Amino acid sequence: MSKPDYDESRLTVVDHPMVQHKVSILRSKDTSTKEFRELVRELALFEGYEATRDLPLEDVEVETPLEKTICHRASGKKVAIVPVLRAGLGMVDGLLELVPSARVGHIGMYRDPETHEPHEYYCKLPPDVEKRICLIVDPMLATGGSANAAIDYLRKAGVKDVRLLVLVAAPVGIKAVLDHDPDVRVYTCEIDRELNDNAYILPGLGDAGDRIFGTK
Ligand code: PRP
Ligand code: URA
Repeated sequence: MSKPDYDESRLTVVDHPMVQHKVSILRSKDTSTKEFRELVRELALFEGYEATRDLPLEDVEVETPLEKTICHRASGKKVAIVPVLRAGLGMVDGLLELVPSARVGHIGMYRDPETHEPHEYYCKLPPDVEKRICLIVDPMLATGGSANAAIDYLRKAGVKDVRLLVLVAAPVGIKAVLDHDPDVRVYTCEIDRELNDNAYILPGLGDAGDRIFGTK
């Protein structure tokens, strides 16, 4: 297999066996809306473990029932979770379970069905967003247009540490994002084969927003 022509050092594929198991259920056309939504939340939590692996820790003294000991706690580096609406909303609760103190910003974006270009319709970020590690969440990375627009929005707001968490990615989308922004890190559960003529991921899982919210 030929080597991908993007910066692999900024890409993490979260290929834990339970992640692969859950993605296989997510992909099935027979999976119900309820189950799909639960799986997206669970997978976001798994992915969040990897995406926050380098969060700084500080020493704290804790007194157990037996003695005093030094433990490690997150040192207060702040996190913002930024879902790309709509489908990204399905990943927020899983990440909030992992980082309960995180703030949540929203970027509303839809893809034009003809041109596949992203259109922004809503944005609201925490006031101190530039000081936070920002986790952009969206289950699907297809052409990369929506992700790049979301990344640009955060960069304009002054955010230095941007990480993109998706569940399924097309190679062309990964390349588009990694080439577009020299610092962003990308996390995905799986890399799929290609896009079809409608810029849907193959084999993919269909329209993530429709499947999370039961709108089709
Ligand atoms: C989907 C998906 C991403 C985007 C990916 O959203 O959730 O945001 O498409 O495609 P891209 O990489 O080619 O930009 P969609 O526009 O369908 O909106 P929705 O979440 O409201 O359904
Ligand atoms: N958006 C989706 O929801 N699914 C795809 O396969 C591509 C874009």
